[in-house]
Amino acid sequence: MTTGRTPRDSVTEKTEIVLPQYANAIGTAFGGTIMSWIDICAAVTAQRHCGRVAVTASVDALTFLAPIRLGDVVILKSRVNAVFKTSMEIEVTVEREDTATRERVLCADSLLTFVNIGDDGRPAPMPPLLLETDEDRARDAAARQRRTRRLAARDPRV
Ligand SMILES: CC(C)(COP(=O)(O)OP(=O)(O)OC[C@H]1O[C@@H](n2cnc3c(N)ncnc32)[C@H](O)[C@@H]1OP(=O)(O)O)[C@@H](O)C(=O)NCCC(=O)NCCS
Repeated sequence: MTTGRTPRDSVTEKTEIVLPQYANAIGTAFGGTIMSWIDICAAVTAQRHCGRVAVTASVDALTFLAPIRLGDVVILKSRVNAVFKTSMEIEVTVEREDTATRERVLCADSLLTFVNIGDDGRPAPMPPLLLETDEDRARDAAARQRRTRRLAARDPRV
């Protein structure tokens, strides 16, 4: 296991274009496609931090704030907010870009929990997250509070 990595070490950016097969009948992006892109972007960040396979344990509530249309360029960015024992919180933002003006609009913001998986297929200790900046520390603190609430509400059947 490494001695640790900073949030910067695993930042990931994924750029897509909304092709016809990704759109619904009214010409906006199909939500499930965006969710898949979010999960892939977060998985790359997770694996960059762990240096091995990590699996999605949960996705917090996801709200689409603005539409993404057929032909739009979509930019996803992911980063680690906090690392716990075998799990970590990853945030993914989704923006659409008008390529003529380069104006970007935030369309979704998602929080996911990934778990580091060891050679035995069980959750394994996570490399530490080295917090460098005030923003890193603020994100870490906020993620620790959310984790408490998230785990309390873990089973949607109760
Ligand atoms: C996620 C998974 C590995 C957890 O395994 P487990 O045997 O329940 O292990 P534990 O109870 O020890 O939990 C391991 C970590 O996951 C966290 N975790 C488990 N379920 C969670 C949830 N719903 N939300 C957030 N974190 C969760 C625990 O808090 C723990 O974190 P910590 O070690 O940092 O404190 C297991 O449930 C699993 O494999 N799920 C399927 C994952 C998958 O296949 N994803 C792809 C989509 S199908």
